[in-house]
Amino acid sequence: MANPSPQTEASTPPRHVAIIMDGNGRWAKARGLPRIAGHQRGAESVRRTVEAAGELGIDFLTLYAFSSENWKRPPAEVGDLMGLLRLYLRRELARLHQNDVRIRFIGDRDRLAKDIVDLIEEAEDTTRGNGGLTLVIALNYGAHAEILRATRALAEEVRAGRLASEDIDEDVFARQLHTTGVPDPDLVIRTSGEQRLSNFLLWQAAYAELVFMDTLWPDFTKDSLREAIHEFHRRERRYGAT
Ligand code: IPE
Ligand code: IPE
Ligand code: MG
Repeated sequence: MANPSPQTEASTPPRHVAIIMDGNGRWAKARGLPRIAGHQRGAESVRRTVEAAGELGIDFLTLYAFSSENWKRPPAEVGDLMGLLRLYLRRELARLHQNDVRIRFIGDRDRLAKDIVDLIEEAEDTTRGNGGLTLVIALNYGAHAEILRATRALAEEVRAGRLASEDIDEDVFARQLHTTGVPDPDLVIRTSGEQRLSNFLLWQAAYAELVFMDTLWPDFTKDSLREAIHEFHRRERRYGAT
């Protein structure tokens, strides 16, 4: 019988990978295509990456799909992005559910169209009991808004006499964030060569490894994900210790 080889530290995949999917517009521009063509190809990358994440043994995959600042884009592009999201959810929900994927959304739902909120709720309700990959989709998400919302909720608890301000610690605070129940990301990837967080998971990514890749999001493949994970394993995480 073959010796079962113990999982080495280096082969353990990061538990939670979060991706800032950037570069759809530049991908299209380089080909003389409209930006929507880049977003369409970007949606195919989403499909591929969700599958790859499951295959690579990742437990949580968070994808930044639309930021609270993306409303500043021309209404036609916002409409295209929302249309693609509708299409993705309608087309993929059954297959994701079959593959035991649990879907969660983070972000502010107030500004989203009613039919999108319905689709989100259907996706979450349908897949609530699934035990495979958890896919977290950040939609109309912004970390500043998330942190302010948590602060207001806690202030309200204190005002009502249900909570003492000195009892607000990191756990109490984190429980008020959209990501409650989701472990902090170990690895944050941003594609397209930009090196900033753009209001993504500012609280949660405090100790995440940041990997910036030049690859534009529509060109992102399973190999790109492998490469980012490889880079993650080369880093030494210290959490403030020596
Ligand atoms: C990422 O691609 C998609 C979203 C932000 C929704 P961009 O649309 O930001 O592409 P670039 O940055 O213009 O290339
Ligand atoms: C960040 O990308 C938001 C998403 C990927 C959804 P942007 O392209 O909107 O960010 P900036 O404008 O370059 O900071
Ligand atoms: Mg961009």
